[in-house]
Amino acid sequence: AQRKQIDKVLALFRLTREQLVGIRDKMRVELEYGLKRDTHPLATVKMLPTYVCGMPDGTEKGKFLALDLGGTNFRVLLVKIRSGRRSVRMYNKIFTIPLEIMQGTGEELFDHIVQCIADFLDYMGLKGAQLPLGFTFSFPCRQASIDKGTLIEWTKGFKATDCEGEDVVDMLREAIKRRNEFDLDIVAVVNDTVGTMMTCGYEDRNCEVGLIAGTGSNMCYMEEMRNIELVEGDEGKMCINTEWGGFGDNGCLDDIRTQYDKEVDEGSLNPGKQRYEKMTSGMYLGEIVRQILIDLTKQGLLFRGRISERLRTRGIFETKFLSQIESDRLALLQVRKILQQLGLDSTCEDSIVVKEVCGAVSRRAAELYGAGLAAVVEKRREDQGFEHLKITVGVDGTLYKLHPHFSRILQETVKELAPRCDVTFMLSEDGSGKGAALITAVAKRLQQARR
Ligand code: BG6
Ligand code: GLC
Repeated sequence: AQRKQIDKVLALFRLTREQLVGIRDKMRVELEYGLKRDTHPLATVKMLPTYVCGMPDGTEKGKFLALDLGGTNFRVLLVKIRSGRRSVRMYNKIFTIPLEIMQGTGEELFDHIVQCIADFLDYMGLKGAQLPLGFTFSFPCRQASIDKGTLIEWTKGFKATDCEGEDVVDMLREAIKRRNEFDLDIVAVVNDTVGTMMTCGYEDRNCEVGLIAGTGSNMCYMEEMRNIELVEGDEGKMCINTEWGGFGDNGCLDDIRTQYDKEVDEGSLNPGKQRYEKMTSGMYLGEIVRQILIDLTKQGLLFRGRISERLRTRGIFETKFLSQIESDRLALLQVRKILQQLGLDSTCEDSIVVKEVCGAVSRRAAELYGAGLAAVVEKRREDQGFEHLKITVGVDGTLYKLHPHFSRILQETVKELAPRCDVTFMLSEDGSGKGAALITAVAKRLQQARR
């Protein structure tokens, strides 16, 4: 009887092929809506023009600074690009952003960022150098050019005040001015998906999609200019940051959302927003698992029916724990050890159930990603009128990199849902900072050519 109750919960996370096809098709509709001038009232996938119009061609060169804000780590980088041989050298330092700064005032946040840049310049012996800077800022920004980006709204764990509706490049410039110690030439603001696509595009010219499966969930791709109503001109292509994390915010995923998804949403910093992201990305998968475990415990099916203080604590199941628990090389005894580290006393049966719960949640996430990605590659194939499309997707993010099954399930799902596309997945080894520097190099070259 107990087994039946557990199976009933797990079954809520199983998606049929028909459901996945349905999700792919809804995503396709949302992508099309978002490209229209008069955005549909129900459109939730933002489809933001990035003003990145081409791949690096190998002639880029120079020394650049890059900032990488919005993922697990905040990094400052120095990127040296040599032309011809496509060789790039990078130096970087990771800084932490304390919670009180992530959720403090905008001024404090940007002062902190500039403090980190100052430390880095000091550390590299570059004080006083005036370098061009590319800013990877992994949040939705409305752009009117490559060096302007108005933050639409914070996502993930950020909530600093007085930033939404403001230009993040201006905020960075002002913070640099306040410090009055050095000058930097901020040339480009770039989403992490776009940086990732560029990093991979530097090596593989077929790379036209950037995918992040990390703290957050997002995708960008090269779109035909003639399809982008919001931007003048019909020639060539432009990269669109889809911000697909907001898919479902109009209720179109309600038929597959469970009570656990709703609980996670309600307990988040941005209730009602980023519903697809909350079903798929690293910041939330552990929370879904925790909600299920609480429910199973309440039903007396786990942890001897006792809900510990730990289990009530938000955020205990980080992506790395899920990844460890689901690793097939791990014996159940070790699963119990991990649970113990998390302060959860489990029996052997408990640990089996926990592993199953993790598996169900992460499998659904990978399948949802696959359905979303299938919509995009199919769109690219149709738009170009190809019978068959060969395309490379540049990928980054801790979920993709650390999880033992996520990438495989994602790839299988895309294959199944976009059978006429031959999709190669290319892991970005250098994060999106390198891509931001490449974009900066191209923008700088164009800037100088115009003068
Ligand atoms: C990194 C990028 O490699 O991947 C970051 O450089 C990006 O900018 C990140 O946000 C996504 O992964 P995560 O898991 O750190 O959110
Ligand atoms: C969130 C952000 C998006 C970013 C993604 C991955 O969805 O809104 O801009 O690309 O996380 O980091």
